[in-house]
Amino acid sequence: MKITAPLVLLAICSQVPVASAQLLLPNFFRNRPAKPIPQGHQHPIMNIPNIFVPPPKDNEASAGSDSLSISDVIGKERVINIFAGFTRDIDTISKRLNDQSQNTTVLAPLNSALQKLPRKPWEDPEDYNALGDKAYEGQSGEDRATRNLRRFAEAHVVPVSPWKEGDKVMSMGGGTVWWESRDGGKVVQPGDIEVSSVAERVSNGEVWILKGCLNYD
Ligand SMILES: *[C@@H]1O[C@H](CO)[C@@H](O)[C@H](O)[C@H]1NC(C)=O
Repeated sequence: MKITAPLVLLAICSQVPVASAQLLLPNFFRNRPAKPIPQGHQHPIMNIPNIFVPPPKDNEASAGSDSLSISDVIGKERVINIFAGFTRDIDTISKRLNDQSQNTTVLAPLNSALQKLPRKPWEDPEDYNALGDKAYEGQSGEDRATRNLRRFAEAHVVPVSPWKEGDKVMSMGGGTVWWESRDGGKVVQPGDIEVSSVAERVSNGEVWILKGCLNYD
């Protein structure tokens, strides 16, 4: 009867990590038909294969799945989840990463690199010079912070994939970026930013994990 399906699903859920189980469970207990739960742009059921199969890493990354877009996979990597959050919150970027007709290389700084920045990615010294320490208060302050964060994040979105070595490309933010091979790895320029790994390859591009942040002034 009604109880059978939830039990089967519970059996499946009991094998998935807690966070995913929490996303899946409430619907069953409320005895409603399962509805897609927004999590990025994914349907939770589509997550299950990813949970059981470890995400591809580095040069083992698969050639790219037909159905997944960058927005579906960027949230999987905990070490970049701060930047992944920016890409979801900023509409120009989230649209692009969800768009299967446009390829993108996302240069996602490690959480630790973001935490080490001398100032928050939404802070601009010029705002403080002009407006003092209330620069980010009130609605206009919030708008200012949003604009700055967008500029920071867009500097890390390269509207090309595959991206060839040495190819100078204008990022979404307007700066010119390219990369070089070094010691068997990749270094993004300008700024000598080491690529820690290529975390994801999907049909509309790649997610590279960066050990530092690009200059976004
Ligand atoms: C987009 O990326 C795919 C690989 O995922 C590639 O086959 C295709 O040629 C790329 N398209 C463009 C315009 O670069």
